[in-house]
Amino acid sequence: MRTLKEALETAKVELVSIGHFNISDSTQFNAIVGAAKSLDVPVLIGVSEGEKNFIGIENAAALVRAERERGTEVYINLDHGHSVEDCKEAIDAGFDSVMFDGSKLSFDENVEKTREVVEYAQEQVALRQAQGDQNACILVEGELGYIGSSSKMLDAVPSEVENAMTTPEHAREFVEKTGVDILAPSVGNIHGMLKSSDNPELDIARIADVRDALPSETFMVLHGGSGISDSNFRAAIEAGINIVHINTEIRRAYRQGIEQALSEKPEEIAPYRYLNSGRDAVSEVVKSRLQLFNYS
Ligand code: G3H
Ligand code: ZN
Repeated sequence: MRTLKEALETAKVELVSIGHFNISDSTQFNAIVGAAKSLDVPVLIGVSEGEKNFIGIENAAALVRAERERGTEVYINLDHGHSVEDCKEAIDAGFDSVMFDGSKLSFDENVEKTREVVEYAQEQVALRQAQGDQNACILVEGELGYIGSSSKMLDAVPSEVENAMTTPEHAREFVEKTGVDILAPSVGNIHGMLKSSDNPELDIARIADVRDALPSETFMVLHGGSGISDSNFRAAIEAGINIVHINTEIRRAYRQGIEQALSEKPEEIAPYRYLNSGRDAVSEVVKSRLQLFNYS
């Protein structure tokens, strides 16, 4: 199987994006992987701190490993790791990539801690190569600028977002100083979905400017994908986005699917007779997003 880096290099050339979807359990995992398999496209599974603590880091890694052994092109990322230790734990568990989220730190602290994760990843890759794994590859992602915090339904756009967009100059300096493989910029994107209106438009010109300022080998990821219009997604991908994160939309679909099943069968207690509706609802969302991201 290709490494995540190789898959991203292809995506960059083809002007498509790899879909990243978060999971809390194996039902969501099956839904996402099933959707990716039906379209024959690669997919990236994410676990944030809360999700990782719920499912168990080893369990998440084992689900991915088993699926790969069946020939599926599935990768796993630690999403929004807030400590260097969490990132190291995910690297040790065999994750393909880790994100150190230092967006709430000062620029210098963010650089320092992100750099620590990059150095650990590089050491581990060297060690694995010395042990005979010539395809060893661990990518590190850093975040710059503020894009809100959780994947939930929102009453309003968080006020901090407006003045915290990533500038091309800062982006270049951050990447040069940290050595990250992937940058998550703030370009009008927010975590979560507005309850009563569409999410704000992305700043496509800023995506293109940040892209131009970065070394050509750096990848760019768009967080906060829920609630973004199809046309905005396509423009963002054409401007240089290589990975898109979606979480709120699938969390909502999962819950709605289960609620629907339980309202039709209020006496049902067999989990596989109501979780299956959650699975199918997630699968539908993932499939439609993957179709959009993977075909230019
Ligand atoms: O890291 C996760 C994502 O950025 C998800 O954002 O919940 O707005 O889709 P979202
Ligand atoms: Zn995110």
